Amino acid sequence: MRLDRLLASQGPWSRKEAKKLIKAGRVRIGERVARRPEERVDPDATPVFVDDEPIRYRAHWHLLVHKPPGVLSATRDPRYPTVRDLVPEALWREAFGLAGRLDKDAEGLLLLTTDGELAHRLTHPRWKVEKVYEVELDAPVGEDAVRAFAAGVLDFAPAELVPLPGARARVTLMEGKHHQVKRMFRAVGRRVLRLVRVRFGPLELGDLAPGAVRLLSEAEETVLYRAVGL
Ligand code: URA
Repeated sequence: MRLDRLLASQGPWSRKEAKKLIKAGRVRIGERVARRPEERVDPDATPVFVDDEPIRYRAHWHLLVHKPPGVLSATRDPRYPTVRDLVPEALWREAFGLAGRLDKDAEGLLLLTTDGELAHRLTHPRWKVEKVYEVELDAPVGEDAVRAFAAGVLDFAPAELVPLPGARARVTLMEGKHHQVKRMFRAVGRRVLRLVRVRFGPLELGDLAPGAVRLLSEAEETVLYRAVGL
């Protein structure tokens, strides 16, 4: 494969940026500094480095997105901004799909992945992937709501509810039904004013800024695949 094409397919660079990196002498093939974008490389035989960092060979791409309110959990929409609009061009892959969704007014962690089987398993109840939400409510919740969630409200599976200071709470679910968190709180007489997904399986939102995206680390990928038996 051509060196510039390899870099553009494996790193967060466009073809043009890859060419610039090569011309600037920042790319090595094995021990040798590469100078020609059209040079042929066999990534299985010789490691390629950019700024002395080895290039990772990715079979799939996974992006963690901090969805702000007002953005749709979709990759195209005629009217509203979608998560696609948050992703820089060099990180976008046509094969991206969403592993789960958040309501338009909800916020927090969304995963885009090119691996359809991974997305399927992460959202299938069989794999019991935990989703953790922090919510702001119209009034505090008490022990009665905690007990109701633990027993299972409406036809939802039991869920963990932890009241937080003020009218806030943390909920942990293993399902992902439509408007589930809002419907569960409605059932105990509360209205959700703000909903943020802070964890999805082993992935944490952490301090990723609203509207920002980042690639998963190798360690995150490993635990994510392991969480769903892949
Ligand atoms: N539950 C909801 O009500 N909305 C979401 O976006 C996610 C979970």
